[in-house]
Amino acid sequence: MCETSARQQAKMPSHWTEDVKARVNARLAEFFEEKLAQANAMSPRAGDLVSAVAELTMRGGKRLRPAVLFAGYRAVSETGSAERIDDACAALELLQTYFLIQDDWMDGDEERRGGPAVHASLTRQYGNAQLGASLAILAGDMAAGFAFELLHRAPFAATHVHDGLAAFSMMHFEVVCGQQLDLLEHADTSLTHHLKTGSYTVRGPLRLGALLAGANPAQLTALERFGEPLGVAFQLRDDLLGTFGDPKTTGKPAGHDLREGKNTALIADARLTLAPEQWATLEQVLGRPAATADELLAASALLESSGVRARVEAKLAGLIAAASAALDGAPLTAGGTLMLRELLARLSMRDR
Ligand code: IPE
Ligand code: IPE
Ligand code: MG
Ligand code: MG
Repeated sequence: MCETSARQQAKMPSHWTEDVKARVNARLAEFFEEKLAQANAMSPRAGDLVSAVAELTMRGGKRLRPAVLFAGYRAVSETGSAERIDDACAALELLQTYFLIQDDWMDGDEERRGGPAVHASLTRQYGNAQLGASLAILAGDMAAGFAFELLHRAPFAATHVHDGLAAFSMMHFEVVCGQQLDLLEHADTSLTHHLKTGSYTVRGPLRLGALLAGANPAQLTALERFGEPLGVAFQLRDDLLGTFGDPKTTGKPAGHDLREGKNTALIADARLTLAPEQWATLEQVLGRPAATADELLAASALLESSGVRARVEAKLAGLIAAASAALDGAPLTAGGTLMLRELLARLSMRDR
C-alpha cells in the first residue's frame, strides 16, 4: 500500500513538510505543462530544453527549501493561507535546478538525483559533448528565468513581492559568488559555505517567506540569526555525507567528494592538521577519478582516525546549538518556531 493511502486509511494528518512537498510538486508540474505548450508553439525542438529542466526538477529532490520558506512564512503569519506560497516555493526549486545543472557540469558529475546530470543526458541525446554542455548552459538559463517568473506571480501585495524579488536576487548573487570562491579554492571554507549553500538553502528562503508574510525588522534579524549557523551546518552535513555517507541513501557514488578533490570542510581541516605523511596518503586519492575503492577506504579511515571527522562533527554540533539558541525568546510565532526547530534537526542530521 502506498504511504498516502495508508495515511488516508488511518486518518493520520500528514506531516507539514510532506504537504509542502506535495503542493510544490503539483505547482511545478502545472507550470512545466504550461511552458512546454508555449515552447512547442515556437518550434517542436524548443520543447527539448523545457523537458530537460522538468526531468531533473521532477526526478527527485528533498524539497527542503520550500519547507524552510514555509517555516519562515509561518514564523511571521500563523494564519495566512498555505497555498499562497506555492509559487514562491516552486521558484526556489527552479533556482535549485539551475544551480544543480551548472554545478554538475563544473564539478564533472555525471549523476544527480539518481539519474544523469542534465549535460550528460543532453550529450547522450545529441551525441556531442560540446553541444550537450552548451545546451545545459541554456537549460540552466531557462530554469533561472522560470524561477524569477514564478516568484513574480506570487499572489501577495506588490510591495511584498517586490521585497521578495530583492531577497531572491540577493540569494542568486551570493550563490554565484560562493561557487566562484569554491572553484578558486578559497581558504575560508566557512565563508564559501555561507555563500554557496547557506544563502539559498536556509537564510534566503527564511527571509523570502517572512517578507511575503510582511515581517518586521526584528523578525528578519531573528530569522537571520537562526539561519546563519544552520545554513553552514547544512553544508557541513553534506560534506560529511559526501565522504562517510551510504551511497544507497545519498544517491552519490562512494568516495565521491574525495575523487573529485572537493575542498570540503574535512579536507580544509586535514590540510591544517595532518602530518606530512598522512597528507600524502590523502593526496593519493584527492582529485583522482581513477582512485581505487581500497585507496578511498584508506583515506576515509585516515580522516576518521586522525580526528578530522570528529572535529568537523564538533563544529557542526556548535552550529546546531547556536541556531537553537537564536530561537529562544525570538519575536516569532509559537507555531512557526516549532517548525523551525524541526527543520534544525532535519537539515543538520539528515542522512541523504
Ligand atoms: C544539494 O542540495 C546542493 C547543496 C547545496 C549541497 P540538496 O541536498 O537540497 O539537494 P536536493 O534538492 O534534495 O536534490
Ligand atoms: C552545490 O555545491 C551548491 C550549489 C549547487 C549552489 P556542491 O558541489 O558542494 O554540492 P553537490 O555535492 O554537488 O550536491
Ligand atoms: Mg557539485
Ligand atoms: Mg560544486
